Amino acid sequence: MNKKWWKESVVYQVYPRSFKDSNGDGIGDLQGIISKLDYLKELGIDVIWLSPVYKSPNDDNGYDISDYQGIMDEFGTMADWDQLLEEMHNRGMKLIMDLVVNHSSDEHKWFVESRKSKDNPYRNYYIWRKGKDRKEPNNWGSNFGGSAWEYDEETDEYFLHLFSKKQPDLNWENPQLRKEVYNMMTWWLDKGIDGFRMDVVNFISKVEGLPDDEVKPGKKYASGSKYYRNGPKIHDYFQEMNREVLSKYDIMTVGEMPGVKPELAKKYTADDRNELNMVFQFQHMGLDNGKNGKWDLKPLYLPDLKENLTEWQKALENEGWNSLYFSNHDQPRSVSRFGDDGKYHKESAKMLATILHMMKGTPYVYQGEEIGMTNVHFSSIEDYKDIETINFYNEQMEAGKPIEETMKSIYEKSRDNARTPMQWDRSTNAGFTTGSPWIAVNPNYSEVNVESQIHDENSIFHYYKKLISLRKEHEIIVYGNYDLLLPEHEEVFAYSRALGDEKLLVLCNFYANEIEVELPTEGNLRSPKQLIRNYPGDATLSPKVKLKPYEAVVYKGSI
Ligand code: NOJ
Repeated sequence: MNKKWWKESVVYQVYPRSFKDSNGDGIGDLQGIISKLDYLKELGIDVIWLSPVYKSPNDDNGYDISDYQGIMDEFGTMADWDQLLEEMHNRGMKLIMDLVVNHSSDEHKWFVESRKSKDNPYRNYYIWRKGKDRKEPNNWGSNFGGSAWEYDEETDEYFLHLFSKKQPDLNWENPQLRKEVYNMMTWWLDKGIDGFRMDVVNFISKVEGLPDDEVKPGKKYASGSKYYRNGPKIHDYFQEMNREVLSKYDIMTVGEMPGVKPELAKKYTADDRNELNMVFQFQHMGLDNGKNGKWDLKPLYLPDLKENLTEWQKALENEGWNSLYFSNHDQPRSVSRFGDDGKYHKESAKMLATILHMMKGTPYVYQGEEIGMTNVHFSSIEDYKDIETINFYNEQMEAGKPIEETMKSIYEKSRDNARTPMQWDRSTNAGFTTGSPWIAVNPNYSEVNVESQIHDENSIFHYYKKLISLRKEHEIIVYGNYDLLLPEHEEVFAYSRALGDEKLLVLCNFYANEIEVELPTEGNLRSPKQLIRNYPGDATLSPKVKLKPYEAVVYKGSI
């Protein structure tokens, strides 16, 4: 049991644009976050992951950075940021910053220089290639649709962009670029931050030659991802980064890594390999994707989720560490996606939280999840702001696809579901801004908001608060080993945790039907005591357990 503060912490992700506006311009900002620190402290949060607040033209809401050491004007000043860090530290909270170094903005001074000429000193900071027969250098598609290459007339070459064309990929093969990144990281760490969340950081090493990939039927471009995810030099880069920067500070590092599997995650996070502390993986987020990717809707089959999360729990049991999440700024709202945002809103939001917060790993709460914020259904595409959503819509329209089918996918999967303003109270614009919000507020804010939940002991907010405080009281929740019960069951998610002679039993009904289950002997507990339940009163634990719609209950006892 290698104890670390970041294993014992609960992280809260702030997406600053949508969190709290302090100056009435309709955009969340740093002073807005400062004004809500007491709220987050009350919830029991230890660490804030702040999505990007750096200077940016906002092609991808700050994930396109034009100055890594400056604050976006809309969010405030560096003095505001210094105040945020100080006020967090005064409250015993830690701050991790978003490090976006697979790509920069095309408005970053490095790129402005790089595109000027082939012999510019910054040319090699990015990935430039000649076209092939007047076409792109290879057939890879961008993660936001279209080609991954953009032609630049000035020097008659193409540059690679795995995301939007305003997000050119940085060339990690260049030691000078790596040095600049390490210096910038050191600069932030010396300002006192407590770590980094690293954006698509397993994309930074590309296979030499950038080979063509197979184009799937019906597609214009290939994925290319097998040539840039977890590439050949990735471990060298992390070990170098660790040696040059990370190892010098007592910090937390989490690598966002699409396409990572448990065995590889172990390599990225095992203590003796000196790379990162944990990865943010996506396998469970893909279980409701059809074969054509995220917009191709497919219902979740619960045993798939159980199997997948269990595989992660077991693989990282003794080496490495898990991040636990169902929501972030790129995913739809979890209560709408996996629960019921209507009749059983409260019960299902609490049930999902129980599954996650009782597992082994560091839990992440995404802003608004703690009050059960839901997906939004804007009637017009004009209300959507996310570049990925807009590109998808345009491609569908160009391909002559029906608008209803397109909007259905957007309602279920658009990233804007997570980006509508935080719902603070019942006042105009949910108390997010006194101005006109940059993206419309979810109309359900008069029912779903912080103020009403703070005053209701049975609210989702109070349930999250309790889950978080249980983690602080019971070491078994942090360090106990996990075992799945009833693996084949299609409606119940049940598991146990064990530490020394202590044992925890977690029983969750994932659906609206009342259900009776027979617990296997592995579920036996001596002198069980109920720790938490999402229905009033105490349930009785017997070999045959009855669970109400979306019921979640946790017992602690001994082996
Ligand atoms: C992952 C981030 O979470 C997402 O919001 C962003 O669009 C891409 N990386 C590109 O930076």
